[in-house]
This record gives sequence, structure tokens and C-alpha cells, in this order.
Amino acid sequence: MSPDRSFAYEGVRQADVVVVGSGIAGLMAALHASHRDVLILSKTGFAEGGSSPYAQGGIAAAVGAGDSAMNHARDTMEAGAGLCREEVVRAVTREGPERIDELLALGAAFDRAAGGALDLGQEGAHDRPRVVHAEGDATGAEVVRALRRAVEAEERVVILDHCLALELLVDRGRVLGLVYTAADGRRFVVAANAVVLATGGIGRLYTATTNPREATGDGLAMAARAGASLAGLEFVQFHPTALDVTADTKPLLTEALRGEGALLVDETGRRILEGVDPRLELAPRDIVARTIWNELQIGRRVLLDATGLAAGFAERFPSVLGLCLAHGLDPRVEPMPVTPAAHYHMGGVVVGLDGSTSLAGLWACGEVSWTGLHGANRLASNSLLEALVYGRRVGRSVAASPRDRVFPELAARRAGRISAGLVGSPWAGPDDPVVAELRRMMWRDVGLVRSMSGLRRAQLEIDRLERTPNAAVGEVANMLTAARLVATAAVLRTESRGAHWRRDMPSTSIHWDQDLFFDGLRPLAPQPRLTDNDRDRGGRVPSTAAVPWEE
Ligand code: FAD
Ligand code: SIN
Repeated sequence: MSPDRSFAYEGVRQADVVVVGSGIAGLMAALHASHRDVLILSKTGFAEGGSSPYAQGGIAAAVGAGDSAMNHARDTMEAGAGLCREEVVRAVTREGPERIDELLALGAAFDRAAGGALDLGQEGAHDRPRVVHAEGDATGAEVVRALRRAVEAEERVVILDHCLALELLVDRGRVLGLVYTAADGRRFVVAANAVVLATGGIGRLYTATTNPREATGDGLAMAARAGASLAGLEFVQFHPTALDVTADTKPLLTEALRGEGALLVDETGRRILEGVDPRLELAPRDIVARTIWNELQIGRRVLLDATGLAAGFAERFPSVLGLCLAHGLDPRVEPMPVTPAAHYHMGGVVVGLDGSTSLAGLWACGEVSWTGLHGANRLASNSLLEALVYGRRVGRSVAASPRDRVFPELAARRAGRISAGLVGSPWAGPDDPVVAELRRMMWRDVGLVRSMSGLRRAQLEIDRLERTPNAAVGEVANMLTAARLVATAAVLRTESRGAHWRRDMPSTSIHWDQDLFFDGLRPLAPQPRLTDNDRDRGGRVPSTAAVPWEE
């Protein structure tokens, strides 16, 4: 290693629990682990970044009169197209009302109907109104506000913001800590008992996305390089109705608008879902998104007509109204142009019911994780619920884990070994050419409608981009790793199901009624069809699946 390609770490910190990420999942995990010493690392301002503060529609939970966890579970399973883990779905839907109560106790001001009961929104593929919301369509911001206040009141929580976690430190299957960089470029080693990944999603891999710029798949890529089990990687959810304007993050027009009667029409006023799905605008997200995509491909514009909701619009949808007005459009008087946009990643780091991963010392929660809840297609507003349920489970599991596993010397040695690979700026600049190319290619070839030729082209393109300077470290490297994982999984799943649509293989295959696992960066061969017994094992890779893929 030449001297100019190495750098010294500023030092080795010792920590008990490290939580990476300060969205709803990370805040919830930190809160429930806070009778231990918790260090929160956030690459944005504390509780200011990630998708959480932008969540509009709300939190799905069976709290309405006449509703039940069973109804919620049934809708979740139906949307998931055969790949939901039933025991996980049951556990999460059962726990939903408790987590809403917990947030209320923490001071979250959810909207209420005239009689004082929680006001519930209707969203796609739910059989009834089931979505708890706040300030109309500003649910995420309100939940973050309540959780942030609770976490900040905990004396044993230390917050390091604008710090980017770069790499997990692993020794023989055990995570020892991590390496991070501060905003001024200095790098540190943290040796810890427990590391929690709560780093959110991968939306920035795509040209059109609803996600903020920090959604670069860092946690997924770090876990993959560390050798953790991953699953569901091919399933990227595209929200049907992002506002079709030139903006790096496309403003979201919440599905709750359609729940209240907004229509999807073409320029002649024809409802585009007619004849496609009997649930029309409230069909599952993948169906609505592909229908819009097909219209756009043949050169038609698609519009969300919410003019029928004009009277109460400002009270019920203040965020949407503000976003549209900022682009010179008024949804109360004119239909809004829409496009699908990358919104949510169903895949992630495999976790069990307590949020632990396949690596000792590592937990994951929120969008970076794969719990088995969503299957091939997430039911609307189930991700905040999952982040709350698993954030708490992770916090409790971590808090109950052994305290005496900090190995600073070993962590420092591991960090020394990988330091040459970490040289260069770890932040992706706003105009980074590699990122721009990657996003365009992912949108074209690994987007809503895929084919073997497009996916193969994408893999080659990722190979090429990985060889370019400055693609070796940090956010850019993570985006390339995440892209490779998604593209590889999409090549291997030779069928169409839920959010994974293959133009060249449009039917759903019984052979693929199973999850596709990765052992770190390496895909594992699909199994002969799983039995009910295997499925009951929950979010764990069946041991017989540990067979490298051979094509
Ligand atoms: P995030 O909230 O994305 O937070 C990730 C955190 O990790 C951030 O603090 C970030 O700074 C940090 N981070 C990332 N990488 C690193 C690193 N390397 N080092 C240090 N820190 C790092 N879901 C619903 O259920 N209901 C909704 O109404 C809803 N509306 C949505 C609206 C929009 C516009 C979007 C984009 C998503 C919406 N979703 C909704 C999805 C939902 O908001 C997300 O899935 C959820 O908020 C993810 O929470 P999280 O805590 O896992 O991650
Ligand atoms: C929305 O409000 O449409 C987003 C809800 C979600 O992503 O679950």
C-alpha cells in the first residue's frame, strides 16, 4: 500500500449499542434499548433525514370499529402475492394497535374523527379504512417528532449526526463494530457490543424516486459485504402517483387521495384502471403503477384528478397541496400529471422475529431489513408499522444481549486491514456522473418492467461503473452494490410476481413460490418448493438453502 493511499483512524471509540440511522426504525430501537448506553449515528441531521419525515398516508393498524388483526393480515398476505411469512404477518398486525397506543402515549397527535375516535384513511388493497394519520398527510413528521423528543430525553443516548457509517467490522461471523466518517472527513473506529442497522431504503438507485437523497442503500450494502443473509432483493415497489415534474425527489401524491375518491385518468378523462382491476384506483400498488407505466410508454399522459375533493383539501392534504403549489400546480382546480417512482424496497437483511440477523452482534429494522412481512409487494402503510414493531423488538433484544463483548483491539486490527479500500470521498456529490448513469440505467433496465436482456445489460453496466475512479467507497460504492444485488436477484427470479415484472416471463410460476436468499453478495440456489413446515420457521434462511447458485 503506498503511503498516499492510506490514512490513520482518529481513534477507537468503545460503545455498548450503536444504532445506525435516525428514522422511525432507528429512533424506536434506540428508545427501547435506552437503559443501555446507545450511540446513534446519522448521516443526516438527527431525525431529519431518511424517508420517515416525509411519510404521508400513515400507519396501517386494525384499530377501527369492526376491524381485526385477521382482516389486516389477510389484506397484507393478498398484496404480498404468496411470499409473506404468515407468522410474521400475524405478529405484526396483532401488535399494530399497541404501537399506535404507545405513540399516543408519547404525544403523537393523530387526527380524530368527529366523535373522537381515530380518523382512518383508506388506501389501496385494504378492505376498509385502516390508516392512522396526523395533520392530514404529515404522519411521518409527527411520529418522528414524538419519537425524537422521547429519545432526546434519554440520558444514556448519545447522538452523532452528519456521520456516515462506512463498513461493518466482522470477525468469524461476529460483528465487532464499524468504521464511520465525520462530516470533516475524519474517520473513526467504533467497537461495540451490538450494532443495529436502521439505514432505510434504496430509492436513489432510480432516476424517478420519492426518496430523499440519503436513500443510497448503505446498510444493505454494508451487510452484504459483511456476509449477512439477505432476501427479497428483486422486489422494488414503485409508487404509482409521484408528481410528474422535474425534481430530483419527486413529490408524492399520497394514495389516501385515491382512498378519498381521486381518479386516475388519461387526457380524455378515461379511467385507466377500468377493465384492468375491479378495485380500480384502489388496486394493489404494483397493478396501478404498471398500468400507469403502460400508458406513459405509449405516449399518453396520466393524471390524478382530485378536483372532486377540493372543499376539504387544505385540511386533509396540506403536504400534498404545498408540494403541488411549489411547482405551480393546484390540485383543487386541475388534475395532476403523475408518474410511478421508486418508493420502497421490500428486500433487505434477513431478520428473525427479534430483529437479529444471521451475524452475531448485528440487528436490523425498518426498510433495510427483510422480515417476511411484505412478500412481493408491500401493502400501503405497512412499512411505518413494521418499523415501529421491529424497532421496538430490536431495542428490547439488543438490551437483553450480553454486555461484555467489546473487542477494541480486534476491531482496530480489522479496521486497519480494510483501510486501503476506504480511501476517497465517501459522499456522493449531487452531480456525481457515476450515480447519474447508474440511476438512468436502473430506471430503464431494472425498473417496473424488466427483461433478461435489459437485466444482463444492467449487470454489465454495473461492472463497468464499478471500475471507475471514486466508485470504491461510501455512498457510490453502496449504490453500486445495492444495484448489483437487485439486478442479480431480478435475473434469477424467472417469473413475474408482485412488484417484480418480467416482460419475457409474464406469468407467476409455482416453482418460484419461495424467497430468493443471498449469503452476503452470493445468491443461493432456489430450493425445491418449501413445505409448510419450512415456512413456519419464520425469517430464517432454511439451512438446506445454503447452496451457492450455479447457472
Ligand atoms: P429512514 O426513515 O429512511 O431513515 C434512514 C436513516 O438512516 C436516516 O436517518 C439516514 O440519515 C440514516 N442513514 C442511512 N445510511 C446511513 C449511513 N451510512 N450512516 C449513518 N446514517 C445513515 N410508509 C408507510 O407505512 N406509510 C406512509 O404513509 C409512507 N409514506 C411515504 C412517503 C414518502 C414520500 C416516502 C419516501 C416513503 C413513505 N413510506 C410510507 C415508506 C416509509 O416512510 C419508510 O419505509 C420508512 O420511513 C423507513 O424508515 P426507516 O427508519 O427504516 O428509514
Ligand atoms: C402514501 O401515502 O401513498 C404512501 C404510503 C406508503 O408508502 O405506504
